[in-house]
Amino acid sequence: MAQFQLPKNSRYTEGKSWPKPANSNHVQEFRIYRWNPDDGAKPKIDTYYVDRDDCGPMVLDALIWIKNNVDPTLTFRRSCREGICGSCAMNIMGENTLACTLGIDDCKADSVKIYPLPHTPVLKDLVPDLTTFFAQHASIEPWLKTETPQPEKEWRQTPEERSKLDGLYECILCACCSTSCPSYWWNGERFLGPAALLQAYRWLIDSRDEGTGERLDNLHDPFRLYRCHTIMNCANTCPKGLNPAKAIAEIKKMMVARTI
Ligand code: SF4
Ligand code: SF4
Ligand code: FES
Repeated sequence: MAQFQLPKNSRYTEGKSWPKPANSNHVQEFRIYRWNPDDGAKPKIDTYYVDRDDCGPMVLDALIWIKNNVDPTLTFRRSCREGICGSCAMNIMGENTLACTLGIDDCKADSVKIYPLPHTPVLKDLVPDLTTFFAQHASIEPWLKTETPQPEKEWRQTPEERSKLDGLYECILCACCSTSCPSYWWNGERFLGPAALLQAYRWLIDSRDEGTGERLDNLHDPFRLYRCHTIMNCANTCPKGLNPAKAIAEIKKMMVARTI
């Protein structure tokens, strides 16, 4: 197999090619973004070889195998390895997804390429700085707002009211959608982005919530909501199969409805 070469105008430099595992007949190549804020060097792409017979089936398994067996300095986030915590979101073969739920075989590549989530500041290697992303989530006030007195036992919903939260409550805040959205790339400080807006709709549509007017006021802004141009990258990339673009369209409809 020919060694992959970076294009001449690449922003990255060619990094280290680490040794292949000895005595293995089943080796997979990985090309992984590396950047260390402490060494003053440009980002580079390191090449690693994983012994598939000694490694689990998922891309996250390969990253852990590399860290344990080859290069302990390789840095990435992970926690649940079950697609629940959202920590291991990264760009694999050009798509934002979760390393723990993507099979190495599903990459269908001689060389699996792994980068951090795009258009986010990088803290180190595959770890993005999501400070702004989580501040935007906090800004939509993701909790139940009520004015009527607290019921004795619980806030009740009919099955039909509850079903309106399906496709929304499953969001794990992995940031795959927001970091794939061109509008968010260019206006990430002011446009809330698909993840925060999906969460905003989750509370707007909750039959128990009594803060609808206040929530819509909070979103009524040329940037916070209206920078979505229905490009649909968010829905195409969401590893949980959710559709933030649809949620954003529903918020826009609610905005129109209250002016009629
Ligand atoms: S909508 Fe999907 S891609 Fe976006 S943060 Fe939630 S789970 Fe991740
Ligand atoms: S539909 Fe809206 S939020 Fe989703 S990627 Fe496109 S512009 Fe971004
Ligand atoms: S490790 Fe939790 S979603 Fe991948």
